[in-house]
Amino acid sequence: MEAKKYYEEFETIVGDILTHSEFQKLKNIEHHGNGLYEHSVAVGYYSYRVAKVLGMDYKSVARGATLHDFFTESWQGQKKNSKGIKRIKEMHGFSHPKTALINAEKYFDIDERQADMIVKHMFPLTPIPPMHMGGWIVTAVDKCVATRELVFVNMRPIERLKSLILKAS
Ligand SMILES: [Fe+2]
Ligand SMILES: [Fe+2]
Repeated sequence: MEAKKYYEEFETIVGDILTHSEFQKLKNIEHHGNGLYEHSVAVGYYSYRVAKVLGMDYKSVARGATLHDFFTESWQGQKKNSKGIKRIKEMHGFSHPKTALINAEKYFDIDERQADMIVKHMFPLTPIPPMHMGGWIVTAVDKCVATRELVFVNMRPIERLKSLILKAS
């Protein structure tokens, strides 16, 4: 199967999610110097590819993975007044999988396995591991995609420095 066919198939599986007005709000949220929308599409696509290679229900994985970070309000700059354990629970890294699950259930039909992919994707930061293989795929792919995004963002200053160095020489 050529790459174009994979993209087309992925689009038919998650097209209704990607074009949904609520999901489109992810375009306004920054994530590792990238948009959260792009991040979600990347995690959805690569999870779909991995699930396909493993002979799993790739349609289910594609949809669950695409919805894994479905929160529409930016957390950066939000003030928290709570303290102790409550404060930790409210921290974005811990709270956003639950928010994503609430939104996913509100706007789309998701099953128990997809709920697991969404709510457990921050493992091991959130201590309960995924119960199903799809959840393990999403948590691994999310970390790979996020690392790649961070590396590219971090490379930009190096690129700028290089051009300054070239100008100076
Ligand atoms: Fe996340
Ligand atoms: Fe993510």
